[in-house]
Amino acid sequence: MRRRHVLTLAAVSAVVSGCSPDKPGASTSTGTPARTAGEAPTLGPGGLAFPKGFAWGASTSAYQVEGAAAEDGRGPSVWDTFSHQPGRTLGGDTGDVAADHYHRVYEDLDLMKDLGLKSYRFSISWSRVMPQGQGALNAKGLDFYHRLVDGLLTRGITPMATLFHWDTPQALQDKGGWEQRDCAQWFADYAQQMFYSLGDKVTTWLTLNEPKTVVSLGYTTGIHAPGKKDRRAATVAGHHLLLAHGLAVKAFRGTGRKGTIGAALNLSPVYPVDGSAGAAKQAAAVDVEENRRWLDPVLLGKYPDGWLAGQPTNAPIRTAVRDGDPAIIGEKADLLAVQYYNPVFVTAQGGRVTKHPTTQATWLEIYPDGLYDLLTRIKRDYGDIPLTITENGMPTTNDIKDDDRIAFLRDHFTAAHKAIQAGVRLQGFHVWSLLDNFEWAEGYSQRWGLIRVDPETRERRRKASAEWYRTVIAKNGIDPA
Ligand code: FCB
Repeated sequence: MRRRHVLTLAAVSAVVSGCSPDKPGASTSTGTPARTAGEAPTLGPGGLAFPKGFAWGASTSAYQVEGAAAEDGRGPSVWDTFSHQPGRTLGGDTGDVAADHYHRVYEDLDLMKDLGLKSYRFSISWSRVMPQGQGALNAKGLDFYHRLVDGLLTRGITPMATLFHWDTPQALQDKGGWEQRDCAQWFADYAQQMFYSLGDKVTTWLTLNEPKTVVSLGYTTGIHAPGKKDRRAATVAGHHLLLAHGLAVKAFRGTGRKGTIGAALNLSPVYPVDGSAGAAKQAAAVDVEENRRWLDPVLLGKYPDGWLAGQPTNAPIRTAVRDGDPAIIGEKADLLAVQYYNPVFVTAQGGRVTKHPTTQATWLEIYPDGLYDLLTRIKRDYGDIPLTITENGMPTTNDIKDDDRIAFLRDHFTAAHKAIQAGVRLQGFHVWSLLDNFEWAEGYSQRWGLIRVDPETRERRRKASAEWYRTVIAKNGIDPA
């Protein structure tokens, strides 16, 4: 027993640097269990098989993993500014070095290959490729994404690029950022440059990551960059973010590039906590804010009935939404990227209660059935748009032996499988996250990665969940627990 334990740890903690065509000779052992060529692993009895070609993936975002914050001409983003302000992040942590992915990109690519990833979802740092947020491109910054994308394609991994994962260039923030209508066009112009620069290799694009979180944490509670606490400004910023999405989709079509584009929305199924009429009414109202306010404009080209009229009479959002805006936001997308972490249970008084166990991230209430409910609801209410899950995962203080993460992922994969059986067009599942990284205001205190990143040396070690996930991908399905 003891020896088995030691062996397991040794296997999962192997530092990986597989054979890389980009860097010949840089390889050591991959730690991958040997398999005879052509021998496909099969699912055991009771296993759940996923559709052929299912895009098993993992996600990261630029500020959370790249580091190299002031290198090769990168301009600062709001997160550089914010994280360097005293008291903004736990322990004063910043993304200056993060997971050092900028310098370790080939090692990370080999880790992805070793996992067997079919798809990798990353984000482009706007201020790395366009230091001022507008105008001239930074060739050295762009080169990094060429290296990354080429490295993915060489390894048979499909790149999925997010254009905005919260890191607004500081130069644009200084001009008003998302409170400014112009910011939507600045974003579309940057997006167009990326389509021209990388669009012959990247064919899956995501416009925005979680505009709801920018609005709630960046502009309402102020616990994320840019640290505003202004509900009125928050609502306006939310509209401009959605407008930016629509303009970017239009710009994509304008370039004639082949491929697919959509938004990445974090959505939460909302349930009345009991059978009372009051709870049902409150849950419907919360559902508008959590889900419909984002889904309706993006997929139906309109805000939910009564949403705008329900805003305070002198609220700036009333004039911020101009004729024609909802139609721009609803420019036909090719896919919807769904990010699911937690459900919301609402009382008759409109309060929120937690009914299930949570994680180190106390907001993350574990409820895998919520994923099934969410996916089937999208199909029911919004039609048959292709869906991919771009984030789902959990933090744990269990370091290498993260069995709790394995159980979490297994349960959520099972819910996804059930949704596919129910007819949902779910094409992929990207685990958050590939690597331990900078978890925003929580700094490095929460570890979300399949791969451990040493906080001091940045050495990579595969966790048990990475080993488990590799088997899932190889079998294209999950064996019973
Ligand atoms: C999501 C973010 C992602 C990460 C996970 C834990 O809301 O998009 O960057 O922080 O939460």
